[in-house]
Amino acid sequence: MPAVTTTGAADACLAVPPLNLGGQFADLRSELLAELTAVAESGYYVLGPKVTAFEEDLARYCGTAYAVGVSSGTDALLLALMALGIGPGDEVIVPTFTFFATAGVVSRVGARPVMCDIDPQTFNLDVRQAAALITPRTKALIPVHLYGQLADLDALLPVAARHGVPIVEDAAQAIGAQDATGRRAGSFGTFGALSFYPTKNLGALGDAGALLMSSAELAELARKLRIHGSGHTYYHERVGGNFRIDALQAALLRIKLAHLERWTAERRARAARYNALIAEAGLAPEFVQLPSERHGRHVYHQYVLRAQRRDELVAFLKERKIGAAVYYPLPLHLQQCFAELGYRAGAFPHAEQAAREVVALPIYPELTESQQQAVVAALTAFYRR
Ligand SMILES: Cc1ncc(COP(=O)(O)O)c(C=O)c1O
Repeated sequence: MPAVTTTGAADACLAVPPLNLGGQFADLRSELLAELTAVAESGYYVLGPKVTAFEEDLARYCGTAYAVGVSSGTDALLLALMALGIGPGDEVIVPTFTFFATAGVVSRVGARPVMCDIDPQTFNLDVRQAAALITPRTKALIPVHLYGQLADLDALLPVAARHGVPIVEDAAQAIGAQDATGRRAGSFGTFGALSFYPTKNLGALGDAGALLMSSAELAELARKLRIHGSGHTYYHERVGGNFRIDALQAALLRIKLAHLERWTAERRARAARYNALIAEAGLAPEFVQLPSERHGRHVYHQYVLRAQRRDELVAFLKERKIGAAVYYPLPLHLQQCFAELGYRAGAFPHAEQAAREVVALPIYPELTESQQQAVVAALTAFYRR
């Protein structure tokens, strides 16, 4: 990722890349390189003491008793479903407006993803509809804390408890999101899945993830399933997979975790600044709708507007070298690979409308005020031209 170039504050042609991973590395360069060297010299490259130390810090940060480091956020979700024994004949309720992995893992264990619409305010699971979709075959609910905002867990937890259905939180985008009491994403459900894909708020230098839980038994099971269901080498109690995390990623993530609260504050400050700049420019609510913050502390993995003439706007911003993106252009119930589930266009109108309207503006701790001004100047130029 190229370094961000900053020029004058009034420069409306300022390039604003979608990410600045190189900037974050430069800030922590000596700490990260020291860890990299330590791991390289230790000869301990997969699991081991660096992983255990990271898991302990991560569980403390997230407010769970245990964290199990794994190979990706996708594998964390898959591992959770395997640990719950979900398979053919079972149903798992997922929002249709999310990253593919949330539902993909359900199919991979042979179960049926049951799609659910979203709350148009938060883009998260519509809990009332989810409750109505529960059947005797429902074996898990996967709320997604999309863009870094908690799903409505106050409403969902009692529904899940009433039906005895476990919750697997897809907290891939939401590490550090918390409710009004300070309880954090990933600590509400039976399991919480995190992704450390490089672009995430806590990003590895490659793929990595973690599964959170507070049951000692489930932690032990997850650790076994992570290494092919093996408690003792070459003796397999269950069929698991290779879901191991590299020592190097764990060591680097542990260094970065110590900076996460500051980065979250910086993301939130930039979201507040976008809100103010867009309001000052008079663009909301006439042309765009600002993100809402309804369920505690939003960590702004993405800063997402609803925008009129969204596709034209994205093309206009891209021409001006502003890294706008659409998460996600097609809800999962309309994806080709899920055609056999039999959903039709129009089945989930809020998700389908969101897919037509959302646009994510660049947001990261290194984003400068002049870059944000340039983004809002470009929005203004598009709508007022
Ligand atoms: C909501 C959601 N779930 C799951 C994942 C999967 O995580 P990973 O890419 O680490 O496998 C992601 C990653 O983009 C995500 O955004």
